[in-house]
Amino acid sequence: MNEAKKIADCGLRIADLEAAPIRNAQFAIRNTLQQYLVGGVNSPVRAFKQVGGQPLWLSRSRGAEVWDANGRRYTDFIMGWGAIILGHNPPPVVRALRSRISKGLLLGLTHEMEAELARLIAQAVPSVEQVRFTASGSEACLTAVKLARAHTGRAKILLFDGGYHGHGESVMAGRSAGLPAALETAVVTVPFNDPAAFDEALRQHGAELACVLIEPVAANMGVIPPEPGWLAHLRERTAKAGIVLIFDEVVTGFRMGLGGAQGLFGIEADLTAFGKIIGGGLPVGAVGGPRRLMQRLAPEGDVYHGGTFAGHPLAMAAGVATVQQLRANPPYERIEHLAAEAAEGLTALGQDIGVALQVNRAGSMFTVFFTATAVRSKSDAKASHKERFAHWANELRRAGVLVPPSPFEALFVGAAHTRRHIEQLLDASKKALQSMDR
Ligand SMILES: Cc1ncc(COP(=O)(O)O)c(C=O)c1O
Repeated sequence: MNEAKKIADCGLRIADLEAAPIRNAQFAIRNTLQQYLVGGVNSPVRAFKQVGGQPLWLSRSRGAEVWDANGRRYTDFIMGWGAIILGHNPPPVVRALRSRISKGLLLGLTHEMEAELARLIAQAVPSVEQVRFTASGSEACLTAVKLARAHTGRAKILLFDGGYHGHGESVMAGRSAGLPAALETAVVTVPFNDPAAFDEALRQHGAELACVLIEPVAANMGVIPPEPGWLAHLRERTAKAGIVLIFDEVVTGFRMGLGGAQGLFGIEADLTAFGKIIGGGLPVGAVGGPRRLMQRLAPEGDVYHGGTFAGHPLAMAAGVATVQQLRANPPYERIEHLAAEAAEGLTALGQDIGVALQVNRAGSMFTVFFTATAVRSKSDAKASHKERFAHWANELRRAGVLVPPSPFEALFVGAAHTRRHIEQLLDASKKALQSMDR
């Protein structure tokens, strides 16, 4: 087989690429990226290190598919890490962006689309009266934490093991170098889905806690749904102790339905962080909450937040078009049904082929954990079989199906996926499980 054909057939085996005496687009890009970008990426998970693979350089996307620099097509289940729900480049969003671009890229002052997107969010999420837009979900989370500290006059924050709230300093304490050691003393960490551990932490630190910050459906230790009563327990205990309950709905906002996880579970947070879907594929974040808390932000109050790109016109236009589309033609039932088919199909494959696995699903997102036992916390997720996950993810990639290159991320199903894409996932998974070391 000639080298070019071999590369096109089997996807990216870097040894093949290096041996190839041809000019290969992926290979050329790799050299430039590795030289000028740290690790060849701008966000660590994109390096594929957790599955021992090589980064993949994409050039374009459409619907439920993406293309790499060699022109190879993949069915996509990464979907912009959950930011893409209507599919890549949906015509209403592209039209809204074209129209917005023709009127100016960055206005420097406030424009009507900011108010429109804020109105759409407040209408969809009952706990939100006012919104402050940021340029990322990270910024939204750290702004919500700052607000909670100012409101309570307390310094400590409570997080859950395996939760992710972006790269802000407070929420990264103990997880990144370069932070003051003192920050760690201001963070209390508790296992997800563990009311007894939560109550004990409250007993010890409750009077010093400004906020409890949680992904109501965990998506960054793989998907882990809240167990019945867990969120209600947090709501009741935080209200009693005067602690601000912050829901990080950067992933779940407008994915678990228009009202996000709080709409689905009927629990109102005090403050909510948004991101991803509300930007329709452009960089965005937002904090929302009742006027009495939000008014603490500058210029009304003394908590400073500002940003050159906060409420960027293009992100607002894409966000408004996306949310309008989700309201006019809600895809939720259909995409959750497709995700359920995928989850059930994968579970059946595991049983038939004899590979121990669990599929955790919440709505249109799910994670495959290679373990025989239920996964309800980060420690359960960590105990799953990493090599088997890597084998599955890499074999899928070779077969033209892209899943997140980490056992602690979610696969996302969106409005552009069809049964054909789910069948591709299942067919490729069948072969991957059959060829797995057991
Ligand atoms: C739950 C959650 N919160 C916050 C963030 C940070 O958002 P961003 O990457 O836009 O800074 C992420 C990113 O994946 C996330 O999943």
